[in-house]
Amino acid sequence: MEEDEEKTCTLGFDIYGTLVDPLALAEPLTALVGEQAVQFATLWRSKQLEYAFRRGLMRRYVDFDACTRQALLYTQQVLRCELPESDQDRLLEAYLYLPPFPEVAASLDALKTQGHQLVAFSNGVEASIRALLANADLLPRLEDVISVDDLRTFKPDPEVYAYLARRTDRALGETWLISSNAWDVIGAKAAGLRAAWVKRQPEAVFDPWDIDPDVVVNDLNELVAWFADPKDAG
Ligand code: LAC
Repeated sequence: MEEDEEKTCTLGFDIYGTLVDPLALAEPLTALVGEQAVQFATLWRSKQLEYAFRRGLMRRYVDFDACTRQALLYTQQVLRCELPESDQDRLLEAYLYLPPFPEVAASLDALKTQGHQLVAFSNGVEASIRALLANADLLPRLEDVISVDDLRTFKPDPEVYAYLARRTDRALGETWLISSNAWDVIGAKAAGLRAAWVKRQPEAVFDPWDIDPDVVVNDLNELVAWFADPKDAG
């Protein structure tokens, strides 16, 4: 029988938007802010990211949970729908119960069967990520949870991508970032990692920075297929 020549890798999975859906918060938000729910969830998410980027650049670190909380305060003010503190607490709690995208659990199992080392790799605080992944029944499928919080900076700081490789004891070129966030993929590639862009929305646009992903897939099932035969796909 022919020896399996396929090289296995470390796959570092982004969490928010890649494994679980932060925009699912539009559902609990509907009861609170009515038809503004989708706009609220979208602005909240984009401000959360912007706050992390800015804090990284300014070297004024607070953790991702704090970015999420401050982005919630901002969003309420912009949309003129200030919520009672109890509702704010409930929304922040809901961040620990974000639903996984439907194919994620089975795809992680299949990637593990292919021999890859699977870890979570997130801007999120480790305790929050662990709780979120446990609630989504994904935690047992991952070997480790690696948080940028250890370095007190955020993606896409090149330091954090090097940290992923270091923590998993892999060469940069054998370490993959798997992310639906184009800015995250660009950050990983710029730092010397390999990267897959999970283009979950057909209308998603990849930033035209002349730094391209190694592979583009629509979901993690397609990633399983690509790793099964990387020469033919992508
Ligand atoms: C993550 C967010 C930023 O790192 O998507 O999980």
